[in-house]
Formats: sequence, C-alpha cells, structure tokens
Amino acid sequence: MLPFDSLISAKQLTPEIIQKMFVVTDTMATNIKQHGRIDLLDDKVVALLFFEASSRTMMSFQSAAQRLKAGMVFAQSATGTSLAKGESIEDTIRMVEAYSDIIVMRHAMPGSAEIAATTSCVPFINAGDGGNEHPTQSLIDAYTIYKHKGRLDSLNVVFGYDSLQSRSIHSLSTLLSQYPNNRFTFTGPKELEPSDAMLSELEAAGVNVEVASDVDLHDGYDIAYINRLQEERFSDAKLFEKNRRKYRLTHDKVVNTKCLILDPLPRIDEIDTEVDTLENALYFKQAGYGVPVRMALLAMLLNKA
Ligand code: NCD
Repeated sequence: MLPFDSLISAKQLTPEIIQKMFVVTDTMATNIKQHGRIDLLDDKVVALLFFEASSRTMMSFQSAAQRLKAGMVFAQSATGTSLAKGESIEDTIRMVEAYSDIIVMRHAMPGSAEIAATTSCVPFINAGDGGNEHPTQSLIDAYTIYKHKGRLDSLNVVFGYDSLQSRSIHSLSTLLSQYPNNRFTFTGPKELEPSDAMLSELEAAGVNVEVASDVDLHDGYDIAYINRLQEERFSDAKLFEKNRRKYRLTHDKVVNTKCLILDPLPRIDEIDTEVDTLENALYFKQAGYGVPVRMALLAMLLNKA
C-alpha cells in the first residue's frame, strides 16, 4: 500500500516508501526469474499514453504490465490522438479513465502530470512531463545505486551534462536529497547549470551542492549520473550544437575509478562506447531494472502488493 494514488513527483518518494518499494521490486525480480509472468493484475487494464517520444519507459511499462498479465490500451503520439485536434488533457483523461484502471502518461508540457492526476479518478503515473520530472526513472536509478552501492545516503554524486533541462536529473537529485550526507556536483556547460530555485531547494534539504565546469572522477566520486543534452528542449539550436560534443565521458576519465556510471539513456554523445565494457558502467543493467521497478509500482498503486 502506498500513501498516495498517483505518482507525479520524486518529492513523494520518501526513504520509508522507497524501502518498501524495493522489497516489492526484489520480489518482482524473483517472480520474473521463476515464473516469467504472474496473475497479479489479470483483472486490470493499464492505459499507456505516450504523447512524447519514448523507448525504454514505454517498453518497460509494457513489459511490466505483460508480466503481471494486465490488459493494455495505448496511445502513442500526440499526432495520432485527439490531442492533435485540440482536445484538452483533462478531457483525454476523463475518457481514458473509463477505459482503464490505471493511467501512465508522458507529455511534453511541464505540469501536465499534475493536471492529469488531479483530473483522474483512477491512479496516475507520471512517465515524464516535459523538462520537469521523471519520478519512475528516479526509482530505477535509486534501485540501481542501492543494488550496486548498498546505500542511498553519504554519496558523492556528479550530475551532468544538462542539469537545467534533464527531468531525470531533476527527479533523482530530488529523491536523493531526502537522504542524509549526500554531496552533489553539477557539471556541464555554464548555460545548462541547474536553476537557482533547484539549487536552493537541494540546499534547503541539507545537500552539500557545488557547480563545476569540469570534474575528475578519480577524486573519490561514488556515482556519475550522466544524461545527454536534451536537444528537443533547446530554444537555441546553436547552443546545443556548440556544446553537444564538448562534454563526453571517455574511457580514460573513468578507468581505474570506483565511480559507478549511470545514464537513463538514450546515449547520444555523452558517453563513449569504449566505457561500456567497464565493470562500473551500469546503464544497460539500469535499463533492465525498469521492468521489476515498474511492476512493483503498478501492483502497489493498484493495492495488489
Ligand atoms: C529519459 C527521458 O525521457 O527523460 N529517458 C528515459 O526515460 N529513459 C532521458 C532522456 O531522454 O535523455
């Protein structure tokens, strides 16, 4: 049981809730290994509304629903639905809630998740609202860190390279800010540093925050959380072109460090493919954890776990 019906922001994910979710996630991972698919949601229908591009989030939600034997209804781009005709988010949700027991939505507008969740009579999950938040990704990221590092507190974390526009960085930094003794260094182009509001919120939560134009991962960092420059969110295409290849995690920057490398993916320019073979390159494992984490979330929001 969760103390909320809808997941909109990583702010809702307190350490106590996360601990409970990880126990259910471990059970789901075991279920996948032992049974492949289980009957837990065979009386439920999951609506997947992806009004913005997605590979991992959409497919891992699909896989999670399949493994729990839920039925599914889909909408896969704003252009293929009545949103293109000018239908509001509210009206879309009022219709979809009659077709399903839980709604998962990705939408390009920051704040769209809040509108949808407030409208919906069935549980709602934010699968990314523009450059704002991506709370289910932060659950996956936290699960990856917990599995491979054994803790979510007392971590020295580097975030790069687009802390201004990456919803994954926003949500993971928010989630980790609820644990004690964490230290964050944001690195990347000056123009893509975190907003003052974001830095103040993290500091108010007790995080030791720094902004640096460059970092040396040999300096005792525990985690490097790297996300591509968010090309689709740039209002100035020249700013993107100027910086896209400037910030890149190369083999020599990571080799012989214990720093765990995470990336919500897709990888574009931000991590060299030579890094992939290193033991501390976790991003493909991280993508795999998406299925048990999302199984746990679906089951818990539907009061089945
Ligand atoms: C992220 C997203 O959509 O924000 N991808 C994902 O869900 N795994 C990161 C990104 O697109 O850069």
